[in-house]
Amino acid sequence: MDGNGRWAKGKGHKRLYGHFNAITSVKEVIKGSVEKGVKYLTLYAFSTENWGRPKDEVDGLMGLFCKTVAKEIDELNVKGVKMRFMGDFSMLSESVRKTMNSSVEKTSKNDTLEVIIALSYSSRDEISNMVRKIAEKAKKGDINIDDINNDEIRNNLYLSDIPDPDLLIRTSGEQRISNFLLWQLAYTELYFTPVLWPDFRRKNLFEAIEEYANRSRRYGLVNKE
Ligand code: IPE
Ligand code: MG
Repeated sequence: MDGNGRWAKGKGHKRLYGHFNAITSVKEVIKGSVEKGVKYLTLYAFSTENWGRPKDEVDGLMGLFCKTVAKEIDELNVKGVKMRFMGDFSMLSESVRKTMNSSVEKTSKNDTLEVIIALSYSSRDEISNMVRKIAEKAKKGDINIDDINNDEIRNNLYLSDIPDPDLLIRTSGEQRISNFLLWQLAYTELYFTPVLWPDFRRKNLFEAIEEYANRSRRYGLVNKE
């Protein structure tokens, strides 16, 4: 979800104004995903690198997160949304963690759409954690070196039950991955759009899904004649 700051600056406002207006886009994309029968929607909300932004922006984002979840959680629950989170939670404040935990508990029985929020997330940290966990198991003799394979690696990432993404959408014209799901994106279809995140609507999601539907996914193989 990129381009909030540029969107706000372009309208002569502070960056936070862009973040506030990003909420409409999030709601639209959740609604559109439910309509299309999408089962997993992962939103990259805040990276570990984002902690280096000015304090007022970080505080504003965290406050916005808590307020928005509190306001929207009942409606999300009615829609059948199951909330999940991934990231380094040790860096988050008590109030953010409380908000996260209560939304996860409240929606744990839902199964229409899983909404995974990457918060204080870094894919490289996720991979480092995975290596440490497997090394610890090997040290204790719980696993043989020969048994370290793709399944073992997946099982030690943050949310190992979530399948690899089919489609990655990045807004705002930037064409890079920025430390997001590096292992899981191996065969994901990438979609880049110049639309700034606060302008992103259901129809933009549907356009991306439409393009995805016309891609030929070969996973390194060849198409059948
Ligand atoms: C994305 O918008 C939101 C977050 C990273 C929290 P940006 O804040 O990165 O907006 P730009 O890229 O500066 O326009
Ligand atoms: Mg950005």
